[in-house]
Amino acid sequence: MTTPRTAETREILDLLSARGKALEELYCRADSVRQQHMGDEIFLRGIIEFSNLCSNDCLYCGIRVSNRDVRRYTMAADEIVAHARELPARGQTTVVLQAGESPVFGDDELGEVIRRIKRETTLAVTVSVGNRPLPVYRYWRECGMDRYLLRFETSDPELFRRLHPDCSLDERVECLRHLRALGVQVGSGFMIGLPGETVETLAANILLCRNLDLDMIGIGPYIPHPGTPLGDAPNVYRDDPEMFFRAIAVLRLFNPDAHIPATTAFDAVFPGSGRDLALQRGANVFMPNTTPVEFRRDYQLYPGKPCVDEDASQCATCVLHRIEALGRKPGAGPGHSRKSAGKTPQ
Ligand code: 5AD
Ligand code: FES
Repeated sequence: MTTPRTAETREILDLLSARGKALEELYCRADSVRQQHMGDEIFLRGIIEFSNLCSNDCLYCGIRVSNRDVRRYTMAADEIVAHARELPARGQTTVVLQAGESPVFGDDELGEVIRRIKRETTLAVTVSVGNRPLPVYRYWRECGMDRYLLRFETSDPELFRRLHPDCSLDERVECLRHLRALGVQVGSGFMIGLPGETVETLAANILLCRNLDLDMIGIGPYIPHPGTPLGDAPNVYRDDPEMFFRAIAVLRLFNPDAHIPATTAFDAVFPGSGRDLALQRGANVFMPNTTPVEFRRDYQLYPGKPCVDEDASQCATCVLHRIEALGRKPGAGPGHSRKSAGKTPQ
């Protein structure tokens, strides 16, 4: 038995089918909602992919534990802190510490890195290292962690189960609730066009973001990685890539106050322009890659990832030019949540 569609679902499905003039109108509306609620600043969050070790086996991900072709690396704590120190001078007011889900980089060690960055810089600190027990999140919060990114990937529990041998959708959502309860600003999101999803899934994904009342929402196209079991499974919207932008525009309409990054995967699908277009259709955050150049090729969650030959200062300069070309300006402050529930107490 299928559940009846709600009026909201019908509205989203209608918007997701927009073409021609209706599509132009959708993009215009999304851009003006973004401007009214978030302003013209584009917040820069420098991302350091500090380790590609992962003990999980997500079926779509290039750094899954079963992919033996990956050269594994982990940066030293000193190296991470040294790279973070360089961000403020480049206009980047947040550091995002991202890695695979692995116990190798110890919880205490990461806590110490967070503490040092908070002590030695003005940066807001975002962490993104997967599902962890509540006491670990609490400890990192005590060390100064401001925000956490953990995508739910898909709102369809059955599809989630098929794609993730290591965890359930409920467990993932429980982690998001724990983080919220600790006063951490919470970011989540999903991939667009996973094999097995329908446009109804996409509508449900957008509604789940709204229902979770997220502070940040990152979404991006699914891209098949040849070193994974889904290597031959194309994106559902392969023949209609405009859907990736419709999704971001509708996401903005339903989440007017959330920070929405123009994610890197948009540039993989539309080289050189994807992230800029996303910024004109609802997004207000850019996450320049700050990973040392010698590791970038080893952190390929999907193929065609941009910026693998550029270094952190080249990406920093590039992004400032891109922002200028859009007639926008880099965010001056840390770009904390606009929502009171997610505001980090000072
Ligand atoms: N295509 C697109 N995005 C991917 N991610 C992981 N693998 C892929 C892929 N093959 C995304 C997931 C994850 C984020 C860090 O990268 O959504 O949460
Ligand atoms: Fe990396 Fe443009 S953002 S080169």
